[in-house]
Amino acid sequence: MLINLKKKIEEKKFGYTESIGTIELRKKVSDHYKKHYDADISLENVAITSGASAGIFMSLLYLFKKGSFIAITRPGYPAYKNIIKALDLRVYYIDTYEDNNFQLTTDMVNDLPDNIKGIIISSPSNPCGGIISDNEMLNILKICKSKSIKVISDEIYHKVEYQNKKSNTAFNFDINSIVINSFSKYFLMTGYRLGWIIGDKDFINQIRNLSMNFYLSPSSISQYVAKKVFNYYDYFDSIVLKYLENRNYLISQLQSIGIRDMIVPTGAFYLYVNISKFNNDSYDFCKRMVSDIGVTLAPGIDFDDKRGNNYVRFSYSCEKVELEESLKLIKNWL
Ligand SMILES: Cc1ncc(COP(=O)(O)O)c(C=O)c1O
Repeated sequence: MLINLKKKIEEKKFGYTESIGTIELRKKVSDHYKKHYDADISLENVAITSGASAGIFMSLLYLFKKGSFIAITRPGYPAYKNIIKALDLRVYYIDTYEDNNFQLTTDMVNDLPDNIKGIIISSPSNPCGGIISDNEMLNILKICKSKSIKVISDEIYHKVEYQNKKSNTAFNFDINSIVINSFSKYFLMTGYRLGWIIGDKDFINQIRNLSMNFYLSPSSISQYVAKKVFNYYDYFDSIVLKYLENRNYLISQLQSIGIRDMIVPTGAFYLYVNISKFNNDSYDFCKRMVSDIGVTLAPGIDFDDKRGNNYVRFSYSCEKVELEESLKLIKNWL
């Protein structure tokens, strides 16, 4: 992918942009939804944000009154609980289990108490890579609607999926849901700090006000790059195939040394593995591993403060040779 950023920077073309991103980039995002989800999303439904992180933060800030209960799954992405707490909201954990790929089910949503005001749904999920099927998602959203629970659907790992049929967007099932996405994962632009929100027009206007006050506008250099990446779906899909190869390799290698207690992820690029036969303090296990052999895993306790000490999370969004070298070191170390 060739983008002459150096030349552009020398031309000093980068100032502030609209606080919810340039019209050009928002148009690209709405075209992306037409192409991949057959969704009619107008420019007024799109806000470009400073990463999905800012999208999650601003959505929670605007939508919920102090003290409201927000449901999230456990294990889950650690920043959800941290942002909820930082905003003086309250976390309601939904424990998920291996027999359902650690994912949310309609029954779990049905069982939510009446005081839940919002829910963050994450599919494919971090740290387990489980996917909620379209049918299940539709039912979950229906139940949320009937219980007046506002849905924030974090779709950051969409298109990093290993099954033939890719997930649909929650916005296609319920136009009242808020969708969070990002250039960080499928589009490989973690350091550019750029994401987007899809929501109804009034909500997007509120995000416009918030982002104007928080950071004025998302990075204009990043937006310049981001509008080009929609020309390269084939390239990004080829990277997803590499992740799949890495996933299969990682699983087979772990199994060959007797580590079998894991869920095969159908999306994202993480493997959540039960290591309780080696250690039941995941933080200590990861700390010793990184200091002894320089290989970093994420401790399960970060994702699940109840059962996480029995787990670690591998990431396989790397070159296969790095995976090979790391696994060699891990095998000798264990
Ligand atoms: C589930 C999930 N949501 C949001 C984020 C934040 O992404 P961004 O880099 O777009 O801020 C991450 C990052 O790892 C993530 O795993």
